[in-house]
Amino acid sequence: MRKRAPSSSLSLRQNLWLIWKLAILLSFIFLVIALVRIQFYYDTFSSPRLSDWKDDVFQGNPRVAFMFLVRLDLPLDFLWQTFYENADAANYSIYIHSEPGFVFDQTTTRSSFFYARYLTNSIKVGWGQSSMIEAERLLLRAALENPANQRFVLLSDSCVPLYNFTYIYNYLMGSSRSFVDSFLDMKEGRYNPRMTSVIPMRKWRKGSQWIALVRSHAKIVAYDEVIFPVFKKLCKRRPPLDASKGKQNIKLQKQHNCIPDEHYVQTLLAMNDLEGELERRTVTYTSWIQSATNMETRSWHPVTYNYASANPQEIKRIKDINHVYYETEHRTEWCKSNAILFPCFLFARKFTRDGAMRLLTQGNFDASALLHDIHQIE
Ligand SMILES: *[C@@H]1O[C@H](CO)[C@@H](O)[C@H](O)[C@H]1NC(C)=O
Ligand SMILES: *[C@@H]1O[C@H](CO)[C@@H](O)[C@H](O)[C@H]1NC(C)=O
Repeated sequence: MRKRAPSSSLSLRQNLWLIWKLAILLSFIFLVIALVRIQFYYDTFSSPRLSDWKDDVFQGNPRVAFMFLVRLDLPLDFLWQTFYENADAANYSIYIHSEPGFVFDQTTTRSSFFYARYLTNSIKVGWGQSSMIEAERLLLRAALENPANQRFVLLSDSCVPLYNFTYIYNYLMGSSRSFVDSFLDMKEGRYNPRMTSVIPMRKWRKGSQWIALVRSHAKIVAYDEVIFPVFKKLCKRRPPLDASKGKQNIKLQKQHNCIPDEHYVQTLLAMNDLEGELERRTVTYTSWIQSATNMETRSWHPVTYNYASANPQEIKRIKDINHVYYETEHRTEWCKSNAILFPCFLFARKFTRDGAMRLLTQGNFDASALLHDIHQIE
């Protein structure tokens, strides 16, 4: 018995030593696995294309990529026709994201500038859904294929240019910053707390969807694989009340309400600490009014300009705007391009055909082209 005690305590000690060694070995293995995984994560999600692409210092003639995100056709094509007629074809590219299967040719547009400029891989877009930002990303990816494209402007089917091509080209090219409307938004509750592990609340931004990006920022938006999946999952528009759904409405109305396209690019660029490389405002004017029809569903809507409201005084008023005030931040943004004060807006929305027609006759564009065009339309 006496002899056994030391031997048993020895074997206990030996066992402890073994366990200790095993523990160290296991910790070491876990450490190696962790390091490999971090490396893998880094390789996968740090957008390797950014460093792979060496086209940031493009040598030739830089182009502006006009990216039209449209429902179906381009009702204001006659106005854009005049706009592009006065441009050097080497200074711009056009891309259109429309409904899948919709073709831009002689039968669907009066402007040959749009022939065959549509994406063949377009997707069905639900307004206020993540498919909208995915469509933007498809446009950016298509436009990025041409290394000459150095500025990327997103436009809708109701957008009009407020100036001629040369002016807009010089304005955008003259700035090394992107134009992205972006502000803090703490009141509205669109931020979904479930995002917090990826997107902290202090990085949450709101702003207009209508952006103009420099190439490096366009790549970040086009190839983001971290923030987009979070938006896809946790930023969705709450469906409107639908009586036919009965009790299901209670659940639906509790769903978190979020409009992806009013937050995505702003938040993504903030997450990448790029706000210092932005003019934090849009170059596309929108006039907002609050509908007062129903107190319950009071919401903001963009004004649509028709023939009467697209009058010279109103267009002049828009073109004369030189600063924007951001209430939530008490920030006044004096509009600049390359540190020089400029009018804020290059484009405006939303315009009907008649509104655009009136704009065309007001001489924002070259007069000879204008007469030629009016003749064509009639
Ligand atoms: C373009 O617009 C600018 C500013 O409105 C004007 O000074 C310039 O003459 C116009 N250029 C052409 C080619 O029409
Ligand atoms: C096109 O770009 C070239 C070089 O950047 C410039 O010299 C020319 O004036 C531009 N044309 C127009 C119509 O803006």
